[in-house]
Amino acid sequence: MKIAIGADHGAVELKDVLREYLKEKGYDVTDCGTYDLNSVDYPDIAEKTAKIVVSGECERGILLCGTGIGISIAANKVKGIRAALCTNEYCAKMSRNHNNANILCMGARVTGVELAKSILDTFLREEFEGGRHQVRVDKIMNLE
Ligand code: RB5
Repeated sequence: MKIAIGADHGAVELKDVLREYLKEKGYDVTDCGTYDLNSVDYPDIAEKTAKIVVSGECERGILLCGTGIGISIAANKVKGIRAALCTNEYCAKMSRNHNNANILCMGARVTGVELAKSILDTFLREEFEGGRHQVRVDKIMNLE
């Protein structure tokens, strides 16, 4: 599975850790930046990463900022994106099972590294259940 990952300066260290974690697990990872601690605007990273997911070049995306809030709001403005801000594995599971989320968002100032890895594992493992949830996801997408 191809995965796009991006973060602003508030989460670049977590992004680098998760990128290497994914590579060790055999995923093909596209790093959308940022690449150092210099201040950047999280909507720019969200747009770049989200467009790679929408294009089909990557199947899933991971977006990180200080809280995960700004970057999730921005990503959800991109047509075709369902970005889910998750702080635990249950939310990550439901975001896939019920919402068919294609981007996972987390906050580096909220979620520790080991929990972030576990949330990420859950997000990548779980599948969309379809059925009544497909009807609801279709209604979400019709709001675009
Ligand atoms: C950057 O300082 C911070 O605002 C950003 O990382 C994020 O938390 C925004 O939602």
